Amino acid sequence: MRTIEWRKYPQPRIRHHTNPQVYLPRAQLRVVPPNYPPLIEELDWGALFANARAPSVLDIGCGMGRFLLEYALNHPAENILGLEVRKPAVEWITRVIAGEGIGNAAAIWYSVANGLGFLQSNSLRAVTYFFPDPWFKKRHAKRRAFTLALVQEIWRVLEQGGGLYLMTDVPTVDAYQREILRQHGGFSIEEIAGDDQWFCEQTDHERFCRSKGIPYVRLRCIKR
Ligand SMILES: C[S@@+](CC[C@H](N)C(=O)[O-])C[C@H]1O[C@@H](n2cnc3c(N)ncnc32)[C@H](O)[C@@H]1O
Repeated sequence: MRTIEWRKYPQPRIRHHTNPQVYLPRAQLRVVPPNYPPLIEELDWGALFANARAPSVLDIGCGMGRFLLEYALNHPAENILGLEVRKPAVEWITRVIAGEGIGNAAAIWYSVANGLGFLQSNSLRAVTYFFPDPWFKKRHAKRRAFTLALVQEIWRVLEQGGGLYLMTDVPTVDAYQREILRQHGGFSIEEIAGDDQWFCEQTDHERFCRSKGIPYVRLRCIKR
């Protein structure tokens, strides 16, 4: 099995949050900050993936891409696309992809608050949304990406029987996400306890939780 020599790619120091405006849909902003990620209507899969095919897995909020990159190595026949709002993280992931010659992973600088219009309906096997920023304060809650509109978009791009996979270590975020999913009604939801029913690749934040003994919840939401 191929592995990445992470030491070859020193990580830059990246702030946890970027400009607060970038978490909101661009259409809602009266003044668009200069560092707002570009809107995307269409993507050229040939420029992103060696086989020029559309992705079958989408990792929303991929962070520094640990899950994305290891998933790509373990599943060479699939393409995985990461979306991330922090540009330096995307630049770093792109350096690793180029350095390791990984042809089936790509990360793009994008705020998912603007939807998934560049993905075809019924085209994805899996969408992952792991450890979203909790935005605890009530006045910050509008920056949470997991809205009814996004869940509808995820439902649209998943194929029948495809799954939305969620992890969080924040009970209020778990309750919030379950309520949004209940309102949507298009998924059958199952909490997953055993590792054997989950991805073998781990995200950075999942590793952190495990190392500190912090409990977290895993949900598998299958498109009905
Ligand atoms: C707590 S980190 C988790 C990263 C990774 N999924 C993990 O589990 O290690 C949440 C990530 O979601 C990204 N994010 C938050 N809002 C976003 C948005 N609207 N569009 C794209 N990415 C977003 C953040 O920049 C951050 O990298």
